[in-house]
Amino acid sequence: MTVHTFDTAKQEEFAGRVVEVLNDACLGLLSSLGHRTGLFDTMAEMPPSTSEEIAEAAGLDERYVREWLGGMVVGRFIEYEPSAGTYRLPPEHAASLTRAAGPGNLAGLMQDLALMGNVEPQLLEAFRKGGGVPYSAYPRFQELQAEETARVYDAALVDTIVPLAHGLTERLREGIDVLDVGTGQGHAVNVLGRAFPRSRFRGVDISEKGIEAARREARQMGLDNVSFDVGDSAELDGTYDLVTAFDVVHDLARPARTLEAVSRALRDDGVFLMGDIAASSNLEENVDHPLGPVLYTFSVFYCMTVSLSEGGEGLGTVWGEQRALGMLRAAGFGCVDVEKAEDDILNVYYVARKNRPLS
Ligand SMILES: C[S@@+](CC[C@H](N)C(=O)[O-])C[C@H]1O[C@@H](n2cnc3c(N)ncnc32)[C@H](O)[C@@H]1O
Repeated sequence: MTVHTFDTAKQEEFAGRVVEVLNDACLGLLSSLGHRTGLFDTMAEMPPSTSEEIAEAAGLDERYVREWLGGMVVGRFIEYEPSAGTYRLPPEHAASLTRAAGPGNLAGLMQDLALMGNVEPQLLEAFRKGGGVPYSAYPRFQELQAEETARVYDAALVDTIVPLAHGLTERLREGIDVLDVGTGQGHAVNVLGRAFPRSRFRGVDISEKGIEAARREARQMGLDNVSFDVGDSAELDGTYDLVTAFDVVHDLARPARTLEAVSRALRDDGVFLMGDIAASSNLEENVDHPLGPVLYTFSVFYCMTVSLSEGGEGLGTVWGEQRALGMLRAAGFGCVDVEKAEDDILNVYYVARKNRPLS
């Protein structure tokens, strides 16, 4: 029989860790405000300044700005010079907190914390009775998702992600048919449409608002080789040389049926490029994942839960590489390479083909 003694040092260490968590969670909420108010962006352009100067430059109420600055100073995001009463956002910190930082900006992601807090009452019900929380309970989610992923697509889709599939850039230049499933607000399609004018692109999503936004952006960009339709990824029509799904499959109610539909819609020499979360299907292998708690939290508060709300499979954000490979094989993809994009700790890219390419 194992006798468990009470380890006081362990208890004290863990209590300290919980205090840290509470402080950091609060800094997350303040960072979301820093992003949404534009305070991080404004401060990144300013010399050391008083709260009045910062509030004026950002067009905000000074009292709120001063209190926010207090939290950011004790959280060591912002530096404070008490003799002058001035605050400074060091450039080394701005590199992770401002819109100018592009994909390096983590403050944008902090907005999801408040968003997740909004659905806690419905989520509690789901814990007690099963079921899920529907998409309609997350009115800002798609906008945030689009804001977040647009940074990645602008910086890396054409030059880093597409080349992960050998020969794909050349085929896109020559002109092929492409479908993006779960396209959201369609920015990936529009970026590809602009970069590869000889190819024809179509984006499909069940969200009408997403498709409206995608069409609007395509018009603004003057693209005539892209189109968007409201539709279910599990019931695809047409045939394509390339199908893409970025951060979609684990959210779906019917992921296995979607993968089968993609496989059917692909021409024999076609490629399925599936971007999804980089993680293992084995919990014990995710303990050291740099974003481990983030992934499981997003899963509980959104990804698993929206799928379950439709009576779906509820794969969850952390379905992991082993399970993804198994499902791709079951859907008829005989050849799958798993690729990583440089500096991207969040995603992995599955380059899936029904047959191994010649050459
Ligand atoms: C996490 S978002 C990713 C959006 C986009 N690919 C991106 O990278 O920004 C997942 C998308 O899947 C869509 N979706 C969920 N279920 C779907 C289904 N059955 N058919 C088509 N799209 C679906 C959602 O509306 C949402 O836009």
